[in-house]
Amino acid sequence: NVQYLADYRPYPFVLSATRMRFALAATDTRVRTELSLAPRDPEWSEDLVLDGGKAVRLLSLTIDGEAPDPAHVTRDGETLTVAAAALPRHPFLLETEVGIDPSANTAFEGLYISNGMFCTQCEAEGFRHITFYPDRPDVMATFHVTIDSDLPVLLSNGNPVGQSQGRAEWHDPWPKPSYLFALVAGDLVAVSDSFATRSGRQVALNVWVRPGDQDRAGFAMESLIKSMKWDEDVYGREYDLDVFNIVAVDDFNMGAMENKGLNIFNSKLVLASPETATDGDYERIEAVIAHEYFHNWTGNRITCRDWFQLCLKEGLTVFRDQQFTSDMRSAAVKRIEDVQALRARQFREDQGPLAHPPRPDRYEEINNFYTATVYEKGAEVIGMLKRLVGDDGYRRALDLYFDRHDGDAATIEDWLKVFEDATGRDLAQFKRWYTDAGTPRLTMTEDWRPGEAGGTLTLTFSQQTPPTPGQPEKPSRVVPVAVGLIGPNGDEVTPTQVLELTEASQTFAFEGLGARPVVSALRGFSAPVMLSRDLDDATRAFLLAHDTDPFARWESGRDLALSALTAAAQGQATGGNYVQAIGRLIADDAADPAFRALCLNLPGEEEIATRLSTGGITPDPDAIHAARESLARQIAETHLDLLARIYQDMTVAGPYRPDAADTARRSLRNAVLALLTRIDGGERAEVLFGVAGNMTERMAALTALLRRGRGQAELAALHDQFADNRLVMDKWFAVQPMAAPPAQAAQIARDLATRRDFDWKNPNRFRALLGGLSANHAGFHAADGSGYDFTADWLLRMDPVNPQIAARMSTAFETWTRYDAGRRAKALAALERIASTKGLSRNTREMVSRMIAAG
Ligand code: ARG
Ligand code: ZN
Repeated sequence: NVQYLADYRPYPFVLSATRMRFALAATDTRVRTELSLAPRDPEWSEDLVLDGGKAVRLLSLTIDGEAPDPAHVTRDGETLTVAAAALPRHPFLLETEVGIDPSANTAFEGLYISNGMFCTQCEAEGFRHITFYPDRPDVMATFHVTIDSDLPVLLSNGNPVGQSQGRAEWHDPWPKPSYLFALVAGDLVAVSDSFATRSGRQVALNVWVRPGDQDRAGFAMESLIKSMKWDEDVYGREYDLDVFNIVAVDDFNMGAMENKGLNIFNSKLVLASPETATDGDYERIEAVIAHEYFHNWTGNRITCRDWFQLCLKEGLTVFRDQQFTSDMRSAAVKRIEDVQALRARQFREDQGPLAHPPRPDRYEEINNFYTATVYEKGAEVIGMLKRLVGDDGYRRALDLYFDRHDGDAATIEDWLKVFEDATGRDLAQFKRWYTDAGTPRLTMTEDWRPGEAGGTLTLTFSQQTPPTPGQPEKPSRVVPVAVGLIGPNGDEVTPTQVLELTEASQTFAFEGLGARPVVSALRGFSAPVMLSRDLDDATRAFLLAHDTDPFARWESGRDLALSALTAAAQGQATGGNYVQAIGRLIADDAADPAFRALCLNLPGEEEIATRLSTGGITPDPDAIHAARESLARQIAETHLDLLARIYQDMTVAGPYRPDAADTARRSLRNAVLALLTRIDGGERAEVLFGVAGNMTERMAALTALLRRGRGQAELAALHDQFADNRLVMDKWFAVQPMAAPPAQAAQIARDLATRRDFDWKNPNRFRALLGGLSANHAGFHAADGSGYDFTADWLLRMDPVNPQIAARMSTAFETWTRYDAGRRAKALAALERIASTKGLSRNTREMVSRMIAAG
């Protein structure tokens, strides 16, 4: 059942207005739907095909008030078809009534119940589990929704147009596809505020939470107000309704959802207090609130023609939320964090069996394509476009995009065309970034010629992209490479220039140089590629000390660390250069503590494995773990006094604030703590855990202790204090397998899974435990297969209950082909055990068969 981009065809009917009436009941909700339809072309004669899941029971159907001949209505498991013969050639009204059972909806797709509250998730194809409908993004209609229920708060999209005892009516004047529909009903309370748009619209803002959670919703509200202001200031985008509602729910498959005027969030991305949330949680909340809000223009006002175009809205909205966070916090730190995440998730995806382009051209289950490639690489592609056309060109292109496509269901072609029209640039070659999978490998070599009128430095770049599933040939791409030159005394002699690589191999010359400079390459990570260059450790250390581009500077440290680690993981010695260089860097009190922390945190084991396998070496998880442990210990021993001093200096005084400055200090202090805990027997971490009033420091202390095989008392204390707080308990479940010594990780996960409070049907709890284990690289990949078996057992248990979650967590296996024969055999056996299970969901079947096919 494969869908192809090439098969796109407009829907043969025009739907102008949708009216719905919900009579809510836990096991038998009735939904009446009126669709104002017209044939797209009265000359055609087409059957009317509506989507509708198996569990939707059709109770009645009329066309202009009359029931059609039952012979003209056919139902299969996924659709309802009214034959052309039963349809008028003029506009008509189709009315249906259906019955659905929200209480039985454990997949959390469509209308379901979470903690006594009705809520919905319709993207991508959830609306078809609520009623019969053309459930595709290019069919857009206004919605009028009536909700009948005794619950006190009844919400839907748009503006409220009527409230009475047991009933609420909502009208959304902005035509939208069904995936943006939302309904919430429950016993909720709001934290409220308001926002005046720059053209004078007063918008009522509410963050709805369960009673008792109000004191943890304030930061989400602040973030929303900042987002609304930022989108006006930076993109000229104003909000367009009288209310904006956000609701926090405990059972949610993803992070959050941008339903028009009624964003629904996983409660972990709304609720925060210093005692329960970490600095990282605060930063994510701010970013995701912004992300969903920004979708109002990039996603809702301009939506996608079909799901192949998903990165049109997601890549752009991620790019926008990244810009927002850079403006709110430190741009340098944000860029480094984003690149780390891209490498950890997207590069990993791009190198394995699940590689696909930002705009795929085929899928079986669209929910399997909400990936790092569509989101994060989709954002990187926009960053490259912006660099190529410049800030002004970008602004003109975006203005044209909003102007030309407001109200449209658009495509990547439409998006690229606005850049071509606004800037005059031909983007035919650039488009390959959207259509081709895989991470290009770039090689840079240098040639230096001294001369009388100054020396000439010639850089030669070549590019090559390895094959990915279904795409053996990879033509060259446009690669913007930002480069600067640093003179021998550490000053920048040539500021950043963007070299545009278009050929398989190309040279660029810098003339009139005094002495041979050091090249600072791929500044700001100007393209999502892997750059390799022959650089000795001394030059890397020089760049780590002097590069004026913060990303490139950090990258030099990263390369130093990785070369030490990959050598050690293959049994070769020394990290001396890195240890010395990092000591100088962290001793620099003038440097941003967050930057120092980023440099001090060693690359993760997964990243080391990726680096090795990119170089054609089979990674050994145990050797990698040992190499990283030993380098960390070497750093701690060498710089003990310096680290102890920094630990003191970085103490944060005063009340907890989740802002960039305090977050930076805590991040350095916590990175230092992890090192000191290797030497001090856990003393500092135990003290910190006891006195810290905030979750950031308590989690840092607990993690450091667990990694050293300690921390049992702290775990118990955390449990006692927060047994009733789901979000804290999720951390409690996640940290144990994640920070466990690898040999024990799978058993610890297995034991945790037997606990009564392992509420596995809750997606956050399930992700905490399975994700915690797979974040432990050597633990998940334990040679005895225990990590694979545990994961496979639970994927099989989850699949019939919530296929989206099972399929998503199956990506723990996506790198299986890179390991040794013993591990490969065990991973393949686990995958085959899943694949051979009867009744497997389409979601999990697609994922597992793609992974097996790569073997
Ligand atoms: N559009 C949402 C966001 O990125 C994600 C929703 C995805 N849901 C899903 N079931 N695949 O903000
Ligand atoms: Zn999004």
